[in-house]
Amino acid sequence: MDKILVVDFGSQYTHLIARRVRSIGVYSEVIPPESIEDSLDDAVKGVILSGGPMSVYEESSPKISREVLLGIGKPILGICYGHQLISHILGGSVSIQESGEYGISRFYISRSHPLFDGLPDSFIVWMSHRDGVVEPPPGFDSLGYTDITRIAAMADDRRGIYTLQFHPEVVHTEYGLKILENFVLGICGCERGWDPVISLKRFLEEHSGCEGGAIVAVSGGIDSTVTAVILREIFGDRLYPVFIDTGLLRSGEGEWVESLFQSLGFKNLLVVEASELFLEELRGVVDPEEKRRIISRLYRDLLKIVASELPDIRYMGQGTLYPDRVESGATSRYADKIKSHHNIIEEAGLGLKILEPLKDLYKDEVRILARHLGLPDEVVSRHPFPGPGLAIRIVGEVTPEKLELLRRVDDIVYEELVASGLYDRYWQFFPVLLSVKSVGIRGDHRHYGYIVAIRGVESLDAMTARFARPDWDFLERLSTRILNEVDGVSRVVYDISNKPPATIEYE
Ligand code: XMP
Repeated sequence: MDKILVVDFGSQYTHLIARRVRSIGVYSEVIPPESIEDSLDDAVKGVILSGGPMSVYEESSPKISREVLLGIGKPILGICYGHQLISHILGGSVSIQESGEYGISRFYISRSHPLFDGLPDSFIVWMSHRDGVVEPPPGFDSLGYTDITRIAAMADDRRGIYTLQFHPEVVHTEYGLKILENFVLGICGCERGWDPVISLKRFLEEHSGCEGGAIVAVSGGIDSTVTAVILREIFGDRLYPVFIDTGLLRSGEGEWVESLFQSLGFKNLLVVEASELFLEELRGVVDPEEKRRIISRLYRDLLKIVASELPDIRYMGQGTLYPDRVESGATSRYADKIKSHHNIIEEAGLGLKILEPLKDLYKDEVRILARHLGLPDEVVSRHPFPGPGLAIRIVGEVTPEKLELLRRVDDIVYEELVASGLYDRYWQFFPVLLSVKSVGIRGDHRHYGYIVAIRGVESLDAMTARFARPDWDFLERLSTRILNEVDGVSRVVYDISNKPPATIEYE
């Protein structure tokens, strides 16, 4: 099967490049820069150098040598940092620009090129850089520019090296996928031959001989449910799904999980009631990472206890996805850690081997698998809900009272979303309780209550997100119901932050 390698220089978008290539139907792997030479087997038809947070001039920034770069001997596409690095290595000049260029920009093609086949003369691109190529290296021609960046794309056709300052992998770049297709199918000549179901088959083949039993923590979300269904193929009745009620869940979540697993034919779901423990340990804690650490530790300890009480448990399944690993800084030593995702539990000290059948997949690929495995629509289209639950949707200290308040608001938001037919339009749409109070008026009386922020986003993979734009009447219905029905909330605000720079969850 043809393969495209994506060399990871630490960009938040690195895995997105691989994901996009796979969505074209071509297998793609992410590798660190030091593995380039070892990874160049016959299947590799092209190499993409990712973006990264550093400057090519920084001493500690990740680099590859001229020999390694030119030794690749297959078409190369450099993106953002990759574009600058290629220029730097091959004798061009890169320096800090007068102005940074972050977000949306218009790119103008100055020279037609196979990379831009089928594209208009100018289009919108997603930029995120301060450095820029000022002088292309010998042998390179500039292919296009923006109002801020003079050389926003370049090519050396003789050596088969192409570079882009913008990010074709990000959905906000118009024709981004077409550019990647032009590179992968056109320039590299790859044959299509990959889809997520193939990755599942490979996982099952590789693990068919696993002995002993396994546990998997489940939440009713798509990732852990798909993981449980996959692991059941390997372990049968020796797989125990474990549902831990942390007390940080939305209302009705426990009953939903029990009925879901019953309908999926699981007979050995274990329910661990641990609300008091979680709330006790979270008391007085306001730091988001501290909250995440505590929840993660308790989760891990409880799973360890559960595993020790079951017969011959040797494995633990986790529904970790690519983005979880990316954002936890688990995939690259060059990437910055944004948040520690609680659903990544390390093997060390647990005494169990970790199985992560979804670790290389993105959410939309998991949805493809979920449909393939026959999971019900309500699981497939369910909005993601973070492992740490409402604890990271209550800014500041988590208390039983705040949880109760947020659950009531959350019920209203969910009901209204479904009633308006908007649920499936958004990636996520939920309320957040800000732990600040504001003055309001109720029936001629002063009312001093919490502020609720409504956060809605559109996204394809949670790596980038655009704030949702429902109509004002819908938002007014939400705010009216929340303010009328939930005593203790004095004000409702709507969040208009995109990711980046904001994240989807508040903590
Ligand atoms: P952020 O807030 O990082 O979220 O933009 C990206 C996506 O991940 C979800 N999320 C989590 N999921 N454990 C999870 O299973 C976590 O700790 C966690 N934190 C964030 C978030 O809901 C969004 O879909």
